[in-house]
Amino acid sequence: MESKTENVETAHLAEPSVFLMDSYIEATKEFKSEGLYPELDLEDRAKNFPSYIEELKLHRTAPPEGLVPMTFFWLVNNNEYIGRVSVRHELNENLLRAGGHIGYDIRPSKRRLGYGKRILELALIEAKKLGIHKVLVTCDSTNIASRKIIESNGGVFENEMSLEEGLPNKLRFWISLT
Ligand SMILES: CC(C)(COP(=O)(O)OP(=O)(O)OC[C@H]1O[C@@H](n2cnc3c(N)ncnc32)[C@H](O)[C@@H]1OP(=O)(O)O)[C@@H](O)C(=O)NCCC(=O)NCCS
Repeated sequence: MESKTENVETAHLAEPSVFLMDSYIEATKEFKSEGLYPELDLEDRAKNFPSYIEELKLHRTAPPEGLVPMTFFWLVNNNEYIGRVSVRHELNENLLRAGGHIGYDIRPSKRRLGYGKRILELALIEAKKLGIHKVLVTCDSTNIASRKIIESNGGVFENEMSLEEGLPNKLRFWISLT
C-alpha cells in the first residue's frame, strides 16, 4: 500500500483512456480480489482495451437499451488510475428510486485516503456542466463511508427505500448545485 501522505488534492477526473490501461488492470485485479466483476476476463479486457474505451464513451450519446445516457470519468493521480465515477444525465424510474445520478468506486489499495470525498466533489462539477442542478446520490444503509462522502459534499437526506429481500435499504440524498 502507498504512503498515507499522498496529495489527494492533485487527483483529477479524466476521460477513460488507453494510456491508463496498466493501472486500470492492476486496480481491477484489486476489485476482483474483493469479489467484484467475477465474470470479467482481464486478459481479454487488456487485449481489447481500445474498444472497451470506445464502448464507455458511447454511453454518452448512444447508451445500451434501457439505460439513460451517462458519462464515465476516471479519477487519476500521478498518472495512475484511482477510481471511477459515472454521471447519469437523467433519472429513469429505477435511478430515481435507488440508483441516483452518480455512482463511484475507489480501488481498494487507495481507500481511506480521502479519494472518495474527492471523486464525488469532482463529479458534482461535471454534473453541473451537464445542466443537472439537483443531484440524487444514494448509498446502501450499511455503507458508512459512502454516507459520509455524500453528506460531506452537501447531501441532504430525503428517505430510505427498501429494495428486494436480502438487499440493504438505499438511503437517498439530494445535493443542490446552485
Ligand atoms: C465507499 C468508498 C467509495 C469510500 O472511498 P474512500 O476513498 O475510502 O473514502 P474517503 O477516504 O473519502 O472516506 C470518507 C469517510 O469514510 C470513512 N471510511 C472510509 N472507509 C470506511 C470504512 N470501511 N468503514 C468506516 N468508515 C470508512 C473515512 O474514514 C472518511 O471518514 P471521515 O469523514 O470521518 O474522515 C470505497 O470504499 C469503495 O469504492 N467501496 C466500494 C464501492 C462503493 O461502495 N461505492 C459507493 C456506492 S454508493
